[in-house]
Amino acid sequence: MMTTIAESPIRSQTTEAVVDDLLSRFARLSESGHGPGVTRLAYTLLEREAHAVFTEFMTDLGLTVWTDQAGNTIAELAGRRTGPAIGTGSHLDSVPNAGAYDGIAGVVAAMVAARQLADQEAFDHPLRFVAFAAEEGARFGQACTGSRLAAGLTEPVNLEQLHDAEGVSMADAFREVGLDPERAAEARWRSEDWASFVELHIEQGSVLTDARTQIGVVDTISGSTRLHIELRGRASHTGGTPMHLRADALAAAAEIIMAGETLATDSRHHGTRITVGTIEVEPGSMTTIPGLCRLDVDIRDTDDRRQRETALELIAQAEKHAGERGVDIDVQVVADASPAILPLSIQRELTAAAQDSGCSYRVMPSGASHDTQMISHVCPAGMLFVPSQNHGISHAPEELTHTTDIVRGIDVLIAGLRRLDSAD
Ligand code: GLV
Ligand code: MN
Ligand code: MN
Repeated sequence: MMTTIAESPIRSQTTEAVVDDLLSRFARLSESGHGPGVTRLAYTLLEREAHAVFTEFMTDLGLTVWTDQAGNTIAELAGRRTGPAIGTGSHLDSVPNAGAYDGIAGVVAAMVAARQLADQEAFDHPLRFVAFAAEEGARFGQACTGSRLAAGLTEPVNLEQLHDAEGVSMADAFREVGLDPERAAEARWRSEDWASFVELHIEQGSVLTDARTQIGVVDTISGSTRLHIELRGRASHTGGTPMHLRADALAAAAEIIMAGETLATDSRHHGTRITVGTIEVEPGSMTTIPGLCRLDVDIRDTDDRRQRETALELIAQAEKHAGERGVDIDVQVVADASPAILPLSIQRELTAAAQDSGCSYRVMPSGASHDTQMISHVCPAGMLFVPSQNHGISHAPEELTHTTDIVRGIDVLIAGLRRLDSAD
């Protein structure tokens, strides 16, 4: 016998139970043998499986669902009027050994909001619920690829130029999961089709929990400039080579790492964050001076100009340190995204929505990157943060947000979408 939507299990469960169920379904879609936490990298079959869960859920609710050539999945609920849509959503990929909430909380929020609104014809605007592909830059260096393509900020040709650590181009990764990189530009959103967009996300910091505040309304999203640095020194015997005759690539890398930390913490750089997150050393022998070293540097800032000036200053210092040690250096800029200042019009609707829902809130910047940063080039866009526990740890298995906080966030999200619906 066929189950109707009204009788289906997703309709009879409590919101808390649906949130928990979806979180654990997504958490199970993780690469096995990859250590603790969730590993579901951009443009992998696991990421596509997560999109299939989203598609099935939204289709069961009676929404119209499609996946574009960037791998983003969009589910539309018709409004009382045709015309531009109001959107909400986040991403389904993860960094290696991630937690279960980054991106997922916002997609789950979109799914639960769709579940609550699907039967109501409550909105004038069509609503679009979005699961973005490839938000994390962990695999290819570039963050927010799905939303970048939606915003027209990445050309298909760029997909051939970006490579993962195994040397697979992003274009080939597209092909491996059944997407056509030549057609990626078709994923572009037209501004006239979108009235506004709101993303719910975990905070990934401890500002909200420390201040015992329930909701963050984001005003600025940090930009990031990412560098790949290759240092070529001279591999040689650790016993036979006197200290003054060395060209030690790892020692040069160590100086560059410390130069980054010093730069980010000097008095001009309140709010700048510089991190070296990967380092490869060759030949990797205890008795050979490191001849080759590769490192990835992530420079984040909420100030556009300072972000680029800091990157240039770090490159100059890296060249100086390498030169002093007789080490050759090659610096590639692998990604460069500007900070986004989110429009006050959306912030005001979201703070009002938090008030309507009886929640404490604060307006705050985001240190992490988000799809909203790209989507703000298409239409007015905003973000809601819900509190992260465990001192705000994120991009790690200890990441935790309480279900009650996600459910509260969903209430504010729906109230915000309603306000945006009646705002024009
Ligand atoms: C996305 O999670 C980022 O790296 O900020
Ligand atoms: Mn995220
Ligand atoms: Mn992330």
